[in-house]
Amino acid sequence: MNFKKWDWCLVLELLQLLLLVIGVQGYPKQTKNVMTGSNVTLLPPRKHLGNYKRLTWLYTTKQKILEHENKTKYFNSTFKNRVKLDLESGALHIYEVWRRDSGVYYLRVYNEREEEWAINLTVWARSSGVTWIATWLVALAPIMLCSLLI
Ligand SMILES: *[C@@H]1O[C@H](CO)[C@@H](O)[C@H](O)[C@H]1NC(C)=O
Ligand SMILES: *[C@@H]1O[C@H](CO)[C@@H](O)[C@H](O)[C@H]1NC(C)=O
Ligand SMILES: *[C@@H]1O[C@H](CO)[C@@H](O)[C@H](O)[C@H]1NC(C)=O
Ligand SMILES: *[C@@H]1O[C@H](CO)[C@@H](O)[C@H](O)[C@H]1NC(C)=O
Repeated sequence: MNFKKWDWCLVLELLQLLLLVIGVQGYPKQTKNVMTGSNVTLLPPRKHLGNYKRLTWLYTTKQKILEHENKTKYFNSTFKNRVKLDLESGALHIYEVWRRDSGVYYLRVYNEREEEWAINLTVWARSSGVTWIATWLVALAPIMLCSLLI
């Protein structure tokens, strides 16, 4: 058995571990990844919103999806007839998402003061098996390299 080769394997695997740790930490928390055609629920970060005066869901900062003040108003957007507001939790249900629904969603809640939260949604095409293969290759590369070396 060659100890130099073992050392290399150790270095490789440690590097991979490091990359994984950095990757996981660097990943934004309020992010959702879904497939096209799925039903998505965007949840506010707090379980109980309390009694709010007004609540607004936006797609990017420019496009209002809906607003609730005494009653729910759905704006004329590509989301009309595809979205539903859960009054109690403030969650936004989107039915059968398309790839162009990807982007940053904002929830603004007005009470005594205004609060805003952002959620990133990424809608993947069903045929994006390439992504999975790439992920597996990255994960398995050091192991395969090491088995070649030894
Ligand atoms: C959402 O994505 C944008 C760009 O893709 C990024 O700049 C931003 O930090 C992300 N926000 C959240 C809340 O993940
Ligand atoms: C999405 O919701 C609609 C309406 O409730 C339902 O008919 C449909 O089967 C759901 N689709 C998925 C992928 O769950
Ligand atoms: C909502 O109801 C409150 C109190 O009943 C009222 O002051 C306010 O004008 C109403 N807002 C809208 C948009 O109807
Ligand atoms: C909604 O927007 C579409 C496209 O922007 C437009 O064709 C349509 O007339 C609008 N409908 C209403 C009720 O404003």
